[in-house]
Formats: sequence, C-alpha cells, structure tokens
Amino acid sequence: MILKKNCDQKLINGKVYAESLTTQIKQDVINLQQISGITPGLAVILVGNDSASEVYVRNKTKQTHAVGMRSFMHLLPEKTTEEELVKLIKRLNQDTDIHGILVQLPLPKHLNTDTIIQAILPSKDVDGLTAYNTGKLSLGHQDGFVPCTPLGCMYLLQKEAPPLKGLHAVIIGASNLMGKPMAQILLNQNCTVSIAHIDTVHPELLARQADILIVATGCQGLVKGSWIKPGAIVIDVGIHRIETTNGKTKLIGDVVFDEAIAIASKITPVPGGVGPMTIACLLQNTLKAAKKMLN
Ligand code: GUN
Repeated sequence: MILKKNCDQKLINGKVYAESLTTQIKQDVINLQQISGITPGLAVILVGNDSASEVYVRNKTKQTHAVGMRSFMHLLPEKTTEEELVKLIKRLNQDTDIHGILVQLPLPKHLNTDTIIQAILPSKDVDGLTAYNTGKLSLGHQDGFVPCTPLGCMYLLQKEAPPLKGLHAVIIGASNLMGKPMAQILLNQNCTVSIAHIDTVHPELLARQADILIVATGCQGLVKGSWIKPGAIVIDVGIHRIETTNGKTKLIGDVVFDEAIAIASKITPVPGGVGPMTIACLLQNTLKAAKKMLN
C-alpha cells in the first residue's frame, strides 16, 4: 500500500495538465472572438491510410472543436503527388479562415517530407517544422512556433522539475519532430544537453548521467531501469500498442515503466503522460497564430 502511494506520487499526470491548458485555451478563444470576431482555424492534412495517423488526426479534430476552434480536415489518397499536395498547402496559406496548417507525418514514401513542410507559410506553421521556425527556436526567439511534443514535454518539466538551469538533460532520439527541438528548448533554459541517437555507442552510459532523461526513439522498452540515474526525472515520449496475454491490447512506451518508476524521482506514464500535452500545445500554437494574424 505504501509502495503504491510512493509510485503514484512519482507520476507526472499529463492528462490533468492538458485539461487545464485546454480549459484556458477555450476561454482565450472566446475572448479573441469577442475582441476581434476571429475564430482560430486549424487545417490538418492526412495523406494515405496509416491507421495510427488516422487516430491522431481524429483526436486533433475532436479537440479542436472542443475548444471552439474551426477544424478543416483534408484526407488525401495515398497516391497524391507532391505537386497536388504543395498546391493544396499554397491554397491554405492564402485562406484567411485558416491560421494553422499541420501535415500529419509520416508521409507516404514517394513524397519528400522536407519539400512539403517548407511549403507551409511560417506564420501558419503551428507544428514548428519549417526552416524559419526551426531557426527562431535555435536563436532563442520567443515569437516563432515550437514543435508541439517537445513543447508539451517542456511544459511538464516546468511544472514538475526543479529549476532546470545547469541540470544535465539527456535526450535519446534525434528526430526533427522531437529530439532536435527538445535539445534547443532545454539549451534555451541553460541545461547541459546531450543527444544520443541510433549510432551512439553505449547510449545507456550517457543516459545514466542524466538528471532529466527524455526518451523518443520509437523503440518499445529500450530504456531499462539500469539506464536511469537514481532520482532522475524521466519523460517517455514513446507510444506502442501491444497485445497482452489475455488477447487484449495496451499502450506502452520506450521506457520499461515498472523498472524505471522504482529508480526515477518522477516519470510520465504511457498513456496519460506526454500524449495529451501534444494536442493541447497544438491548439495553443493555433491560438498564437490567430492572435499574430490579428496584430
Ligand atoms: N506525427 C506524429 N507526431 C506528429 C506531430 O507532432 N506533427 C506532425 N505533423 N506529425 C506527427
């Protein structure tokens, strides 16, 4: 019983933080409408039939409506060409009802992700993936857009971690969506930052030095309890659906949760940790885009 209580105290409840952020956004949308008559609009583009992406996109639409924003969904067939997709993005760039544009990743293999992403107007790039917004983040500017998942992780760290200045943050995974922007965000907070990636030799040795360990590898159960420094804060960005012995399914992360919770001081669960924060931050970025357009 005491053990259970200790474990509960270690959990970082992303669902609760996301709900509180979403409630604030909903109120801000009402205020914006009253001041300006503007309703923030988010366009989401999904190409193909990736089942995980379909679920994410459906959730984004639902939550966009829930905060009183307008949602514009574009479901395109797998065989969509780069020219067709860029043409759609250019049309959305010009549409004054749309303040944010998100192209769900991954795209089908025949499409060049960078060509597509860079077609988005930086002022509507609520995913923070264009070269302009990536540059803004690396320069420490506050007025660009920051990718939603690392932004959500930072929100949780600011609520749950001690002052970040000087702490050693180790990020496992170096993607454009997560690892690289996360490193910039933490550098901007004066953390000492290390990144491990697919070619890093002995990532566990690096991980064991981390005061803050952020794991976004797409590799289920990669990080064991033995990788974690006692008392570290662990943020698990991974999400994998697995079958259990009774024929049902459940979600797990990149970290072996039962081992990690015994060693970490705090940890995000999967589900209910980072996941809910991503959509809340997307809506926050969309609101920011609408307000910027007003100015
Ligand atoms: N696929 C998984 N996460 C994301 C995200 O944050 N943005 C986009 N565009 N695609 C994703």
